[in-house]
Amino acid sequence: MSGTILVLGAGGNVGRPLVKALLAQGEKVRAATRSGDAVEGAGGVVFDYANPAMLAAALDGVDRAYLMLPAGHVEALALLLPVVELLAARRIKIVFQSAMGVNADDNIPYRQVELAIERSGTPFVILRPNWFADNFHTYWKAGVDHGVIAVPAGQGRTSFIDARDIAASAAAALSRGDFDGQAWDLTGPEALGYAEAAQLLSDVLGKPVRYEAVDDARFIDQLSSAGVSRAYAEFLAAIFHPVREGWTAAVTDAVPRLTGQAARSLRTYAEDHRQALAG
Ligand SMILES: NC(=O)c1ccc[n+]([C@@H]2O[C@H](COP(=O)([O-])OP(=O)(O)OC[C@H]3O[C@@H](n4cnc5c(N)ncnc54)[C@H](OP(=O)(O)O)[C@@H]3O)[C@@H](O)[C@H]2O)c1
Repeated sequence: MSGTILVLGAGGNVGRPLVKALLAQGEKVRAATRSGDAVEGAGGVVFDYANPAMLAAALDGVDRAYLMLPAGHVEALALLLPVVELLAARRIKIVFQSAMGVNADDNIPYRQVELAIERSGTPFVILRPNWFADNFHTYWKAGVDHGVIAVPAGQGRTSFIDARDIAASAAAALSRGDFDGQAWDLTGPEALGYAEAAQLLSDVLGKPVRYEAVDDARFIDQLSSAGVSRAYAEFLAAIFHPVREGWTAAVTDAVPRLTGQAARSLRTYAEDHRQALAG
């Protein structure tokens, strides 16, 4: 493959390290953002999911694309299916960032996007990451600041994955052909409960951080008053159900198999993001 790789969500948690990794491999990369600014040295192109038709102008010379739904959006089918159609019509290989567990039920919107890609006839790889370690310096940052991470996780454990490992897995799936047609559950190397995760952050940051199990209603109110849309807060509350049920505790070897490198631990994540977590 010698064409250009289009990265959607290029300025985000996974997109930015993905662009970096692809450029380091010598790939040609086009970075899609709403501003059209360059990302990590890759030329930018303006794209908004609200207007999928504008993507057509960005596809010149593109033979592979990284597709994701930006966080904060819940309309997976409405926003992603038109993009899948545009890419598949040009036989552009799609590497889709889905989410771990969505294949439990074909009615889940992300699963329906996966199925549309699988049936489209274009080459594809599906990546299903578990909960990101990076949520601790984004969604749960206010909690870390206040010393209390209050989420409805019960006693459930999660094999948190570092966004850099998702990016490295995505780079492998995009640049190699031997993973085509496959779906991978991406996890970190061990499953931790939120109390253990809070203790670990406490150790690394040198200040008290504890976990408080809350119910959905309090969690939704908390996020809504922090500016998250009610619909997205409800979506996040709903996806804590599988956490409480123990479904996010699985550990896979997908990251080492895709990248040749061990997946980073939550401690490595925390040490490397000490400034973002403490700032
Ligand atoms: N966080 C988790 O624990 C977790 C776990 C499993 C799966 N996931 C999935 O991973 C995805 C999020 O990945 P991420 O955190 O890497 O993404 P992200 O950082 O939230 O978003 C990526 C980029 O999308 C761009 N964007 C936002 N709205 C847009 C729009 N309307 N049109 C075009 N671009 C837009 C933003 O860049 P600009 O402002 O520059 O345009 C943003 O930097 C979601 O689909 C989520 O469901 C997340």
